[in-house]
Order: sequence, then structure tokens, then C-alpha cells
Amino acid sequence: MGSGILSTIGNTPLVKLERFLDDPSLNLYAKLEFFNPGGSIKDRPAFQMITQALKDGKIDQNTTVIESSSGNLGIGLAQICAYYGIKFICVVDVKTTLMNQNILKAYGAVVDLVEQPDPETNEFLQARLNRIQYLLSTIPNSFNCNQYANLNNPQAHHQTIQEILMALDNQVDYLFCATSTCGTLRGCADYIAQNGLKTKIIAVDAQGSVIFGDTPKKRLIPGHGAGRVPELYRPNLETCHVLMSDLECIVGCRQLLKREAILAGGSSGAIFSAILKKQQEIPAGSNCVAVISDRGERYMDTIYSDYWVSEHFGDVSHLWE
Ligand SMILES: Cc1ncc(COP(=O)(O)O)c(C=O)c1O
Repeated sequence: MGSGILSTIGNTPLVKLERFLDDPSLNLYAKLEFFNPGGSIKDRPAFQMITQALKDGKIDQNTTVIESSSGNLGIGLAQICAYYGIKFICVVDVKTTLMNQNILKAYGAVVDLVEQPDPETNEFLQARLNRIQYLLSTIPNSFNCNQYANLNNPQAHHQTIQEILMALDNQVDYLFCATSTCGTLRGCADYIAQNGLKTKIIAVDAQGSVIFGDTPKKRLIPGHGAGRVPELYRPNLETCHVLMSDLECIVGCRQLLKREAILAGGSSGAIFSAILKKQQEIPAGSNCVAVISDRGERYMDTIYSDYWVSEHFGDVSHLWE
């Protein structure tokens, strides 16, 4: 799959977690997607969407790739575009962390900062989409991957689930994955269905994300969750879904760190809190795999900042200590 640094995409370990559950009635494993070269699971769709667009002749060396992303997909695209020498403009807004803006710039991406929300909806998401349309209409030979609808996004995750299944001789009873574009969910679900496998998927989303019909509300933790239902979403890809709060994300991250010494990102915290919530419903002896999408370093000023946590939630440290 590619050459150079990009050929490492997917060569990631699956580890058994022996300490996380108080009652080890389940066999719990974690797929460590932070070993991808750009640091997250989104390296996979970024790679697949760009290489396929090159193969299909939709883009070339002179194309400007334009995408709205405040986090991992933007960084994945910045990496791949840098590798192929393609110009990349990443449209971000004022909520994008300075750290992520600096990572994007280090890869050579142009960071296009949207400073005001859309005047009609008062939403930054809409303001960024408006900006994308403007840039596409004014820059010749420009291309938008549109990760929310691009079928190469889920296609990339056929390999994610294949690696998990291969490591466990196809004996995977439950897969816990977070949702935003639904690329991971759909790619894994399609592969499982196409191969007649019995693996059940538990989709983990954020409270206030609209994917599974929740009422939209302000969310503090980026990564999982969506403010609009992605075109990639289809009903019943998952066996069930769980909606987790920002605090549950933080508690899951801190517990995972304390018990397993794994410093993971926000969506992983949501997943590990969801595992504790669902544990009693899962038959003893089941093999369960949690997809850890990214590392905790990008969340130092939020999830792993005692100051930030207490400002938003008060004194909650007893929840993981
Ligand atoms: C940290 C993290 N977890 C989970 C997801 C959700 O993945 P997907 O877009 O495949 O639904 C994302 C997406 O950006 C992410 O950044």
C-alpha cells in the first residue's frame, strides 16, 4: 500500500487489555490506530481518497485539494498531499486548536481560518462549508474530498477490520467503534456483512450528535459526533448505538490511562465508558475489540488538563481515582 512513510498505514498492533475491566468476563482488545504515520485512524481514508482520486484522474500534481477539517482528517490529508507534492488548503475555524493548526502548517498545508459563524445559522460548520464552496468556485483545478459522502472513506476501513479479524482468527464477537462521518462504521459493517461474519458492531457516538437522531447540542470534545447526518450513514449498520457525554469521554480516557497506561484521544474515552456501560449485556467469554482512533497528545489542553476539566465539570477526579 504505497511507499515511504505511507506504506506504514495499517501496520498497527492489536493489544489485549487485561486490567481495564474489574470483572474480566470479556476478552478485551484494543486496535491502536494511533500508530498510523499521521497519528490517527483518519490517515486511512485520507490515503484512500487521494490515491483513488489520482488513479481516477480526478486530481493531478497541479490540483489544489480543499477540505474542511479541524483535526485528524485534515492532518492525514496534509501528510498525503505533502508526500505527493499536491497543494492542500485546510479550512478551519477559531475552535481548531493552535496545535492542530501548527501541525497542518508543518506539513505544508495552507490553513484557511474562518473567523465568523454563518450569519443565517450562526454555525461555524456552515460557515466552513460556505468557504469551501467559495474556494472551489474561485480556484481552478481544485478538488474537495467530501469525506461525509466519499465511498473511498468506508472503503479504507475494509482493511481496518480485516487486520482486526486476521489478528484474532476471525473470532471477534463485538467491535466498538466511534462515529462521525460513519466511514469506520460503514466500512467495517459492509466488510462483515459481505463476508458472512458474526461480528456485532456497537457504534459509540456523542450526546448532542445528530447521527442517531439525538437533539443537537454543544459538544466540547472533537473527533466523534456530527452536526449533520453524513451521506455515508445507513440505518442498521450497527447492532446498537450508545451516546456518551463529554464527561464520560473524559472519565473513559482517564480510566484507560490509569489502568492500562494508554494515553488515548476523546473518542476512545467514549468507547471505554461505553464498554463499562454495556459489559453486563455481553455474554461472558466474548472477544471485544475497541478501536482507539488517536493518541491523547492532541487533547492535553482539554481532557488531560485538570484545570480545564474542573472549570467545565467541577471536581470529578474521584470518578477515575
Ligand atoms: C478521534 C476520532 N475518533 C473517531 C472518529 C470517527 O470516525 P469516522 O469519521 O470514520 O466516523 C474520528 C473522525 O474524525 C476521529 O477524529
